[in-house]
Amino acid sequence: MSNQKEIEKRRTFGIISHPDAGKTTLTEKLLLFGGAIQTAGAVKSNKVKKHATSDFMEIEKQRGISVATSVMGFEYEGLQINILDTPGHKDFAEDTYRTLTAVDSVIVVIDVAKGVEEQTEKLVEVCRMRKTPIIVFINKLDREGLDGMDLLDEVEEKLGLNVRPLSWPIGMGQRFQGVYNLYEKKLCLFSPHGKQAEEGVIEFDDLQDPELEKHIGGAAASELRDEVEMVDTVYPDFDREAYLSGEQSPVFFGSAINNFGVKELLDCFIEIAPTPLGRDAEERRVLPSEDKFSGFVFKIHANMDPKHRDRIAFCRIVSGQFERNKNYHHVRLGKNFRSHNPTSFMASKKSVVEEAYPGDVIGLYDSGTFKIGDSLTEGETLNFKGIPSFSPEQFRYVNNADPMKSKQLNKGLLELMDEGLAQLFTKEDNNRKIIGTVGALQFDVIQYRLENEYGAKCNYEPMHLHKACWVKCSDPKVLDAFINRRKKDLARDKQGRLVYLAETAWGLKTVQEAHPEIEFFFTDEF
Ligand code: G4P
Repeated sequence: MSNQKEIEKRRTFGIISHPDAGKTTLTEKLLLFGGAIQTAGAVKSNKVKKHATSDFMEIEKQRGISVATSVMGFEYEGLQINILDTPGHKDFAEDTYRTLTAVDSVIVVIDVAKGVEEQTEKLVEVCRMRKTPIIVFINKLDREGLDGMDLLDEVEEKLGLNVRPLSWPIGMGQRFQGVYNLYEKKLCLFSPHGKQAEEGVIEFDDLQDPELEKHIGGAAASELRDEVEMVDTVYPDFDREAYLSGEQSPVFFGSAINNFGVKELLDCFIEIAPTPLGRDAEERRVLPSEDKFSGFVFKIHANMDPKHRDRIAFCRIVSGQFERNKNYHHVRLGKNFRSHNPTSFMASKKSVVEEAYPGDVIGLYDSGTFKIGDSLTEGETLNFKGIPSFSPEQFRYVNNADPMKSKQLNKGLLELMDEGLAQLFTKEDNNRKIIGTVGALQFDVIQYRLENEYGAKCNYEPMHLHKACWVKCSDPKVLDAFINRRKKDLARDKQGRLVYLAETAWGLKTVQEAHPEIEFFFTDEF
């Protein structure tokens, strides 16, 4: 049980949002609290410029830096907090989804003016699937936005969450005066630009106390009383167990840019968020408190600079203690693996680590040893579940553009798929190859890397598909009949599993209804 102290110290989470909701700003403020960075702007400057060109090399250059911000660790109140970055914008890819398999909880940032947006919906869906505990932070209260109650209705409806506000805003935009912290029963008065002084936080057990008027004025006081009463009537009490099982999501309001509401969020987060959780392997469940080390690779970052052809495999530690220079068992390859220079990510500095514990993410330098989903152990065969491939949403036929290099093309495609860049499907009727991705940028990356690293050339043909989903049926006869009937809409993934290519959402629904015996899956883990 020697690791128990280290485990209890750790909180590993991700911040997810639609682009522009304020994820970077919030991350930065959290790092400032932890003293991990000294100046605002440090994370921001590493960020992929939003309106940047679709020139992926430019993005890639910046991604080079973003390796450093893939995991940001800092200490706060004696705890070790690890924030895993979930890239958005043009960088949005399966990686973003898969990172969610390596966190123990998430904070969802929502722009009060925009409400729930598309990328948030997709990411929360993955969290829900995994029952990841979620805290919601409604941001930009210094601007006019949607009514608090309406917004929470939208969160419940579109994200499928059961919310419980733990703070409540007092006005918004020009009239924004702060929040009432329902969790700690404190009145937090707003002053812009993070100047919220200690005296801006007032213990306030009873909102009926006439003192309230003195602080926020009569009209705002009565509005706050009414609204808090409504909140307490409409929403069940906060229940930590329900939060931990992903069944209830506490909500905070604030303004990240003004550093307002962020400390309350962080203080509550460290109190309620889970310590590193165990993970299910195909063989058994693995607990963090186990003596023996185990971990899994959830992301591979390849450096595209031909002068530095290194890759970093990101490994989340599940159990035991990882030590530098120790031999571990690479389960898939059945051989030993030893890392001389495992990397930890404290803020934006990379440094070699001597040891790491459950909840930590380490970077392992690698020249092609790892695939997404690989596990390392002290000898036991463990294949961690829950690092799935997700149903892609963008598709193109891939053609060989240089017939002399078909071997190189096939090798390149398979290796790039192992890195988790995209998924490769082979059509059942004509054997044509299809690449499916979650974000469009991946097509350019694949083409570029095939040429530069494998000397192979490819071109693409557009393809209009809504989704690819894996299909299964317990009755082989029914499955055969389905295959015969729908051959032109079927393909095989890299492992030879059957995949249905749906042209439209409606078409998919119709096929599902027409074939109730066939099961359709949106990740490859079923
Ligand atoms: P993202 O990572 O989720 O994409 O969002 P990011 O933090 O970059 O924030 C997007 C924009 O929203 C930024 O403005 C940021 O300054 C602004 N923002 C973040 N939090 C708040 C807030 O609480 N209130 C208000 N009013 N704005 C906020 P930008 O103009 O796009 O970038 P910049 O020029 O400020 O860097």
